Amino acid sequence: MILFTIIGAGNMGSAIAKKLLSSNFCTPENIAISDHSEEKLEYFERLGCPTSTDSSCFIPDSQFIILAIKPQILRSFLSNVQHLFSSETVLCSIAAGVNENDLYENSGCEKIIRIMPNTPLLVSEGVCGLYANNKVSSDEKNIIHRMLNCFGLVVECENEDLIDSITALSGSGPAYYLYVMEEMQKKAMRFGFSKEIAKEIALQTLRGAGALSYHSEENFEVLRKNITSKGGTTEAALHFFQENKLGNIWQEGINAAYKKSKELASTNSVSGKN
Ligand SMILES: NC(=O)c1ccc[n+]([C@@H]2O[C@H](COP(=O)([O-])OP(=O)(O)OC[C@H]3O[C@@H](n4cnc5c(N)ncnc54)[C@H](OP(=O)(O)O)[C@@H]3O)[C@@H](O)[C@H]2O)c1
Repeated sequence: MILFTIIGAGNMGSAIAKKLLSSNFCTPENIAISDHSEEKLEYFERLGCPTSTDSSCFIPDSQFIILAIKPQILRSFLSNVQHLFSSETVLCSIAAGVNENDLYENSGCEKIIRIMPNTPLLVSEGVCGLYANNKVSSDEKNIIHRMLNCFGLVVECENEDLIDSITALSGSGPAYYLYVMEEMQKKAMRFGFSKEIAKEIALQTLRGAGALSYHSEENFEVLRKNITSKGGTTEAALHFFQENKLGNIWQEGINAAYKKSKELASTNSVSGKN
C-alpha cells in the first residue's frame, strides 16, 4: 500500500512531494506521483518514488490521493477514474473553488479533505487551510495535519465555508503584501535609491515588521502604537492612510477575493447545488 499518490507534478504537486521528501515525512516509496510529462517525473524517479504518466495506475493501492491538477480538469479526471477508488480512499484536493459536494459527485469518494495552501509553502513558510468532512477519521486527518506541518502553519477549518475565507486571506494574501512591497520599492526609487536598494528596503522592512510581531506577545495594534510617536513621521503617514480609509479598502479587497472563491465554487459545481 502506498501512503500518498500525488496527481500532477506541476508547481504545487512537485513542491508538496519535494517538501515531504526533504523533511523525511515519508520515504520515497511512500509517495507515488503522476504527470503527463516524463520530464517532470524524472527527478522523483531518481529519488526512488513510484512514478507514472498513467495517472490511474497507483490509485487502487493508495490511501491518500492528493489532487494537484487545475480545477477546470478535475471533474473529468475524477469521472474517468472513479471506478478505481475504494471506500477507504481519502481524496485530498488542493484545487481552489471545487467544493466537497462536487468532489464527491464526480469521484464517489466519501472521505474528502480540502486543503488550501499558499505558495510560501515552497520555503516552509506557508499557511494551509485544512477541512475534512465527517467521513474522514481522526487518524486520517492527523496524518494530513502532520503532513501539512512540513509546509508551515496549519489552520483547521471546521466548515467548508472557512476554506473560502482562508482562500481570500492567506491563499491570495502573499500577493497583497507583495503589492505593498512593490509600492514601497517604487516610492524608494522616486526618492532616489537604486532599484536594488529600493527592493531591499521594501523587503527588509516587511521582514522586520513580521519578525517583530513574531517575537512579541503583543497584538499588532499595540506594536504599531509603540512605534508611532505623537506628532512624528509615522503618525503623519498613518493619519493619511486612515483619513483615506485604507483599512476599509483592504477589508473590501479581501471580501472581493472571498466572493470570487464562492462564485468559482458555484461555477465549477456539476450539481448546481452550491
Ligand atoms: N499555484 C498556486 O499558487 C496554487 C495555490 C493554491 C492552490 N493551487 C491549486 O493547485 C492545483 C495545481 O496548481 P498548479 O499551479 O500546481 O498547476 P500546474 O503547474 O499546471 O500543475 C498541474 C500539473 O498536472 C498535470 N496534469 C494535468 N492532468 C493530469 C492528469 N490527468 N494526470 C496527471 N497529471 C496531470 C499538468 O500537466 P499538463 O500541463 O501537461 O496539463 C501539470 O503538470 C490547482 O488546482 C490550483 O487551484 C495552486
